[in-house]
Amino acid sequence: MERTYVMVKPDGVQRNLIGNIVSRFEQKGYTLAAAKLVTLSKETAETHYSEHRERPFFGELVSFITSGPVFAMVWEGEGVIKAARQLIGATNPSEAAPGTIRGDLAVNVGMNVVHGSDSPESAEREIAIFFKEEELNDYQKDSNKWV
Ligand code: PPS
Repeated sequence: MERTYVMVKPDGVQRNLIGNIVSRFEQKGYTLAAAKLVTLSKETAETHYSEHRERPFFGELVSFITSGPVFAMVWEGEGVIKAARQLIGATNPSEAAPGTIRGDLAVNVGMNVVHGSDSPESAEREIAIFFKEEELNDYQKDSNKWV
């Protein structure tokens, strides 16, 4: 089953948006395979964003993402990598459509609330940065059993 890495950034954690963001993925029909609140080291942040190392905002990006805890998640389900990017919306919130997370909840390109892997290769790489294999839960949902 397809999996992707999604992370509520420090601004989203500070603004109490974890529940809102988790809810959108749950309501869409995806399954949470793993989650944790974690403060990134500079090394982990630089590894995660290594493809942007040469860009002018890299220092700012690393400094922001290490400024407070992030909520790291792995979401699972059919087509979840592309669908997560659609739920999240365009990188620049001023271009993100209403109804998307960034379109609804963000203003600034730096503080854009959430990150999602942009390809299967990125998803695999990013999941491995944040989670050990044994932290990835493999389970089926059967809501009728629990009410
Ligand atoms: S994307 O989605 O990878 O095509 O977006 P991109 O424009 O390449 O941006 C990559 C990540 O860098 C963040 N970003 C910035 N941070 C701080 N300041 C500025 N000016 C800035 N511009 C882009 C952007 O939010 C992307 O973060 P992630 O976590 O990958 O969404």
